Amino acid sequence: MVTSSAPGKVYLFGEHAVVYGEPAVPCAIELRAQVTATRRDDGLRVNAGDLTLDGFTVEYSGDSTGHPDVAVADNLVEAAMGYVNEAVAQAKAAASERGVDTDAGFDITIESDIPLGAGIGSSAAVVVAGIDAATRELGISLPREELAERAYQVEYAVQDGQASRADTFCSTMGGAVRVEGEDCRQLEAPELPFVIGYDGGAGDTGKLVAGVRDLKEEYEFAAATVETIGDIVREGEKLLAAGNIEEVGRLMNINHGLLSALGVSARSLEAMVWAARDAGALGAKLTGAGGGGCMVALDPTPESVTALGYTPGCEDAFRAGLDTTGVRVEDDTNE
Ligand code: MEV
Repeated sequence: MVTSSAPGKVYLFGEHAVVYGEPAVPCAIELRAQVTATRRDDGLRVNAGDLTLDGFTVEYSGDSTGHPDVAVADNLVEAAMGYVNEAVAQAKAAASERGVDTDAGFDITIESDIPLGAGIGSSAAVVVAGIDAATRELGISLPREELAERAYQVEYAVQDGQASRADTFCSTMGGAVRVEGEDCRQLEAPELPFVIGYDGGAGDTGKLVAGVRDLKEEYEFAAATVETIGDIVREGEKLLAAGNIEEVGRLMNINHGLLSALGVSARSLEAMVWAARDAGALGAKLTGAGGGGCMVALDPTPESVTALGYTPGCEDAFRAGLDTTGVRVEDDTNE
């Protein structure tokens, strides 16, 4: 039995635009998904409990081919099962390429502090931890670059080819990273005082990405907006390297405005973004695919968390430190 965990992430800059080859800067945060893989004779059995933050609990267990009976939107459950199936397939492919027998099945157990579909990297964290745990259970340990690439292939398959390497590379490596197409690297980053506001809901990444793609194809100015987000990222990464987090915050505000123009914000996200700004945050924006879920602010003071606590539509507000570890083994009974 092997248990691995991997962190969630927030986007300082660049979500959506990264799908079209612009750079993005996601940062891993200290909220983790933990996946345990145990060999069984054959088949795949998935157990997942508490895929949530406080007050939003999903529980299901069942065969990956059946439909689990759970009180959560079908698309989220189907997506979660799709990610697990593909992650196991990637683990087996990696093992088979190394001449390891992959006839075995798996019991997969998922526990996560990261709310599903809320824009802070639940699927990438589950996929990265899942491939890591399953390959180790088969007796091999993948280099991190290969693990990140295989996790990206899972997202690419499940999201119908509409995915970037940003979430999976960030979750694998930890810290702040920069992703532009296939070029993925780790960045030096100063202390980043992240505050996260969560509306208790979720967006549908596939639909939101498709919506931006349609808009971009229909209107030249939408395509230009995507390119402008790329310009913000290029400026933002220089400011990050210089440790100028005041100016980083200002560019986060502009990045949010452009995402909003592309139609991926939501009333709840706007309310939380403005609550944090009014409370004195250095910057605030939605994070991830949008449509609901989480926003991220930079605020070294307690003011934003307090203000978000009184904001209608905000279900939870908390600080999240930068995770610098990335994927890690929690328990390995084969060692
Ligand atoms: C989703 O967390 C981030 C998007 O940019 C999609 C992706 O990069 O795969 C919207």
